[in-house]
Parts: sequence; structure tokens; C-alpha cells
Amino acid sequence: MSETFTLVIFGITSNLAQKYIIQALYDMEEKGALPQKMTIIGNARRKLTDSEFKTYIKEALDKENLHHQHEIKKETVQNLLKKMHYLDGNLDDPAYYDRLKEFLDKIAHSSKGRDDRIYYLATYPDLYKSVFENLSREGLTDEKEGFVRLMIEKPLGHDFKSAKQINKLMAKYFKESQIYRMDHYLGKETLQSILTFRFGNGLFEPLINKDYVDHIQITASEDFGIGSRGGYYDTIGALKDVGQNHQMQMLAFATMDAPDEFSNEAVTKQRISIIKSLQAHPEEVVFGQYKGYTKEENVAHDSKTDTFYAFKASLKNERFNEVPIYVRAGKMLEQTVTEISIIFKTPHNRLFKDLNRGMEPNVLIYRIQPNEGIVVRFLSKKPGSVELEENFLQYCYRLDASVHSHLFPDPYEKLILDAIQGDQTFFADAEEIEASWKFVDGLTGTKKNPIIYEPGSWGPEEADELIQKDGREWLIPSNAFCNIPLLTR
Ligand SMILES: NC(=O)c1ccc[n+]([C@@H]2O[C@H](COP(=O)([O-])OP(=O)(O)OC[C@H]3O[C@@H](n4cnc5c(N)ncnc54)[C@H](OP(=O)(O)O)[C@@H]3O)[C@@H](O)[C@H]2O)c1
Repeated sequence: MSETFTLVIFGITSNLAQKYIIQALYDMEEKGALPQKMTIIGNARRKLTDSEFKTYIKEALDKENLHHQHEIKKETVQNLLKKMHYLDGNLDDPAYYDRLKEFLDKIAHSSKGRDDRIYYLATYPDLYKSVFENLSREGLTDEKEGFVRLMIEKPLGHDFKSAKQINKLMAKYFKESQIYRMDHYLGKETLQSILTFRFGNGLFEPLINKDYVDHIQITASEDFGIGSRGGYYDTIGALKDVGQNHQMQMLAFATMDAPDEFSNEAVTKQRISIIKSLQAHPEEVVFGQYKGYTKEENVAHDSKTDTFYAFKASLKNERFNEVPIYVRAGKMLEQTVTEISIIFKTPHNRLFKDLNRGMEPNVLIYRIQPNEGIVVRFLSKKPGSVELEENFLQYCYRLDASVHSHLFPDPYEKLILDAIQGDQTFFADAEEIEASWKFVDGLTGTKKNPIIYEPGSWGPEEADELIQKDGREWLIPSNAFCNIPLLTR
């Protein structure tokens, strides 16, 4: 018996769809990873003829972007386009859902087998309520002939209260097992393999605890500004844009206890446990804003939005109690880099302590981007001298420039496939989202005006003082490892 699978993308013309979703669908088509009998329905308000819609998809694929840098094959595009349809309409208008139901019924009747369906919300959160209510009214949320799943994007809400409300709203129409909350960081190969590195080896894990670790640093910096995202960014700021989700996930993967098994329930339970035990003092938070931010497009001229933050935290658990965790992220900084560094304690009686660099700590670095890899920084003898030099034991994801797209799946590709296969391991659940907002609310509760910093710097000096007062320094992210050039078109 044949079965049908339909992906309905609300907001097919969104920036999100152009940059990520359409690119991921192309890659999946090329790899033969899409379900055999698949229909993709795209929705937006603008009127597009069938041929205009096809041109739009082709143009989106041809646009050069960071996430899709290999040759676009005409045949693959044609095969993908055969699956795609456009159904314009306003999501606030109940009549639209009659037409959607008619379309979906036709697909269901074309087969006697299962009729599986995913709704992907790539549109504005203020439309969610209308979408859920209308889908439900039309019976389109019922799992009668197959599964019905919902993919929903971050950020989910803007604080604990609003996140709880959205979770409650979704729970009215969908079971938790139907909801796939996207944070593309959870789909990153470089983040997922932290688990394999830690729990698939015996060598490192016994050292990652308060007895051996001096402190942890997490950096997510970008050397560019907000671009054309001003309208969105100015309402949310850096901490809510990446701190509540991406950096929280990075922290959880780097510090969580081993799950009992590799299952959604067990991995999510450990992530939640970390987020719930995370503590920070509002006095140990620094907010910054890059000079010139208020002149950006669609930004209020007197905006107090943070484009940088740094805070000190710790985990109230047995493994890491009292180990400081310094977290920073921002835009218009000196480098674009995302990494987690575990800085180990240095014994005072180290044999070569009197040599140059003799007391430098060993560091385990999970480099999420660029120069993706997992490396251990250590000191070695400089050949032909008695001096020490820095070296790296390194595992690099890129072997050469050409492997970019195929051995290194894009997070969206991985997560869409997971959702089709019903694997929620790398999606956030309701409790996790609410716990991370609770933590972030604690930091923003006493929010001060951001401190202006120079573009190209590492943020306000106060962020340096935050760590220096503990006798430590921010690490300057190294380019000395996994330095394999990216493929560019
Ligand atoms: N962009 C990113 O990089 C990114 C990253 C992570 C998460 N997200 C999330 O993804 C979602 C979309 O963000 P975005 O920045 O990509 O938005 P966007 O570019 O502004 O796109 C919004 C989409 O919704 C459609 N739309 C708006 N009102 C509609 C209505 N009443 N009925 C039907 N369609 C409507 C728009 O098409 P029409 O105007 O033609 O109707 C468009 O396709 C948001 O939840 C955002 O938080 C975005």
C-alpha cells in the first residue's frame, strides 16, 4: 500500500524558508532522502502563479548563502519542483483553511495508505493561534490516517510567561509528541558530536568535573552587525536571540551527565537538568551595544537593545558545583567564532613551570564554527630548544574544502529528516524552553542600559573585568587548528 507525506510550509516566502528550508529540501532531494510520495505545499499571502512560484524557488536556490555552497543541479531542482505547490492565502482568514483542506483531502484520496503530514510554521508568532484554531476546526490536526506533526521555530516567546502561553496554546491542539520545537543549533553536527566525544570514549569524561576543570568559557561572536534584521532584532536583543536557546544548548551538551541511554527522553532529561541547575547573579551580567547600532535600518534611534552580553554562571550540581562558567556573545566583534572551552586546572608543581608559558592550562575546545573540530591544547617542547610551545591534538570535521555539503549535513536537513522520522531527540521540549526562559528572565530582570562598545573589539571593557576580577582572562579564539579553507563559489 502506498503512503503519502505532505509538508505544509506556512511562510514559504520568508527569509527563513529562503535561507534554510528550501536549501535543505534541495539537499534532501539530491540525496534521495525525501519520502517517495511527497507533496510540499507553500503558503504566503502574495499572489504567485505556478510559474512565478517555480521561479521564486529556483532563485532562492541560486542565491549564494553560507548554508548552500555547492552546485545546483537542474535535474534535482526539477524533481523538487514537481513536489512543490503554492497555495496563497491569509492565515488569519478561515476561508483559506477550506481550500487547504480540499487540497490535503485530494492528496489523501490519491492513496489508500497512510497520510502523514507536517505543518512547518515559518511565519510570524502572532499567526500561530489562528493557524492552530483553523487547522483544528477543519479536523486537520487529527491523527486518523497517519501522523500529524508541527515544526515551530525559535524563539518561542520572549520570556517565561509568553513561552508558557505558547506551550499551553499548542498543548490545546497537539500532543507533546507531535510538537517539534526547532533550534537549529541542536541539529548541528558539531554540537551533536560533543555527546559522542564525551560519552563514546573513556579517556576524557572522567576529567570533565570540578576536580579537574578550573572554569568554562562559551563564546558566540560575530564580526558583522544586524544587517537587514533590525525590525526583528531591535525588539529582542542578543541575549534573547541566542542566549536563551543556542548558548543554553551548547552549555547543556558540554556539561550534562551521561544519559542512561541514547533516546529522546534520556537526552532531553539531562539537558533540562543542566538548564534548571544553572545559576547566575544579576550583578554579574554585562550588556553592550555596538557603536552605530541605533543608525541601523529599522532600529529605534534611542534603542537600548543589547547587541552583546556577557555573564558569569555556575551549575548547582554535584559534578560542577562552583566551577565558573563565563558566557559571552555579540555582534560586530573582532572575530566570528562559536566555541566552548573547558579550561583545566594547572597543578602548582608542574615540572616545567619556570619555562616560558610553563603554567598555561590545557584546554579542551569544542569549535562549533568556523574551523569545526574538537581539539585539546597542550604544551610541547619546541624542537631544538628548551622552550615550550602551544600545540593541538585535533579532530577536524573538514578534511578538505570540497566536503562541505555532503559529509556535513546542514542542521535544517538533519532536523527536517528527524521530524519526518519521528525522532525528537534534538528538539527542545516545553519544560526545557520554559526553564531556559526562567534563567534568562533572571538576568534581564535588573537590566541596565547597554554599554556602548567599538565595532571590531571584544565588547565593553566591563566584560573583561567580569572575568579578570576572578584572576582569569577570556581566551582569544585560536585560528591555529583545523584551518581548512571553506569552499566558495
Ligand atoms: N529569518 C531567520 O533567519 C530566522 C531564524 C530562526 C528563526 N526564525 C523564525 O522564523 C519565523 C519567520 O521569520 P522570518 O524572519 O523568516 O520572517 P519573514 O521573512 O518576515 O517572513 C514572514 C512570512 O510569513 C508570511 N506571512 C506574513 N503574514 C502572513 C499572513 N497573515 N498570512 C499568510 N502568510 C503571512 C510572509 O509572506 P507574505 O508577506 O507574502 O504573506 C512570509 O512568507 C519567525 O518565527 C522567526 O522567529 C527566523
